[in-house]
Amino acid sequence: MARTGGKKPLSPTQRRKLEHLELCLDPSVEGSGTGFDRYAFVHNALPETDLDEIDLSTTFLGKRLKAPVSISSMTGGFELARKINRNLAAAAQELGLAMGVGSQRVALEVPGAADSFQVRDVAPDILLLANLGAVQLNYGYGVAECRRAVEMIGADGLILHLNVLQEAAQPEGNRNFKGLQARIAEVCAELGAPVVAKEIGFGISADAARRLKSAGVSAIDVAGRGGTSWYAVEAKRAAQQGKPVGSAFADWGIPTEEALVQVRAALPDIELVASGGIRNGLDIAKSIALGANIAALGQPLLAPALESADKVVQSLAGLIGEIKVAMLCVGARDLAALKKAPLARRS
Ligand SMILES: Cc1cc2nc3c(=O)[nH]c(=O)nc-3n(C[C@H](O)[C@H](O)[C@H](O)COP(=O)(O)O)c2cc1C
Repeated sequence: MARTGGKKPLSPTQRRKLEHLELCLDPSVEGSGTGFDRYAFVHNALPETDLDEIDLSTTFLGKRLKAPVSISSMTGGFELARKINRNLAAAAQELGLAMGVGSQRVALEVPGAADSFQVRDVAPDILLLANLGAVQLNYGYGVAECRRAVEMIGADGLILHLNVLQEAAQPEGNRNFKGLQARIAEVCAELGAPVVAKEIGFGISADAARRLKSAGVSAIDVAGRGGTSWYAVEAKRAAQQGKPVGSAFADWGIPTEEALVQVRAALPDIELVASGGIRNGLDIAKSIALGANIAALGQPLLAPALESADKVVQSLAGLIGEIKVAMLCVGARDLAALKKAPLARRS
């Protein structure tokens, strides 16, 4: 990939974001072990269902989606990221899906970087979520910055991402996570838009989810282990900077399926996103049957988004087709029926 950030020299945050993007295109940062392969739907040979009548529509954070699929928060802050965000957003608009942009810290720091996050002109109707790192609430950010992030892109809500291990592994990471629950509660109370708490690939436990709910978050994205490994990404960057971090934490984290099951059991009513290693429509169908309201994916959409919105549409339409096939084969004509479909756990 060309190292293109536009004409101006990149700030340290912009450079880090570009390095993240480049490293995430390398398949070696892909983890394994979401846990979804421990489950199999019970095949229904007589489903009494017409594939063409299957209805995937749902609502999330009060907005209608044509399918229970969201594009995970990934990028922004430089010229190439602008292209990626616009292609992702245009595809989400065409298919009626949701989308999060990448962390907007860079746009709060660097004048002129905001436009790489702005996609409303190509995606006027989608559920669009702003994004900031929750830990920044310990490093000078407050409700005002959260509001600026939402208003900057005309978002419907804000994702606060939790990335403890990434910050710990990152040479320039922010590592003070004390008092965050109270600061998240302040944002939830004062922002005036829904807040989603999200991990980035290490999962959210039942206990953390309970504390996030009591802080006032409207939804939780478990973003569990099994997809893009942010430990692997930061370990590669650290090695490039001559500060190796070793491989002790390579398998750290709660697999996506385990996080999903435990958070749903702890919080029966919260809106829940399954993400982290979602790679096909069957993973999405299993997520819904295990208690997610929607599922999200990131890395597999990067390469198509570097090409065109049409390529992203093709990838996502393939996934949506697979959800429908899974639903046909279990005889579920809508998502309410899919939630009740028998799913056997392999020992
Ligand atoms: C290039 C890239 C950049 C990312 N940047 C962010 C970010 O800024 N904020 C965030 O909440 N998550 C970020 N993520 C994490 C994703 O939203 C997602 O949680 C994670 O990649 C797991 O999903 P996946 O396995 O489908 O990629 C990023 C992921 C990728 C691939």
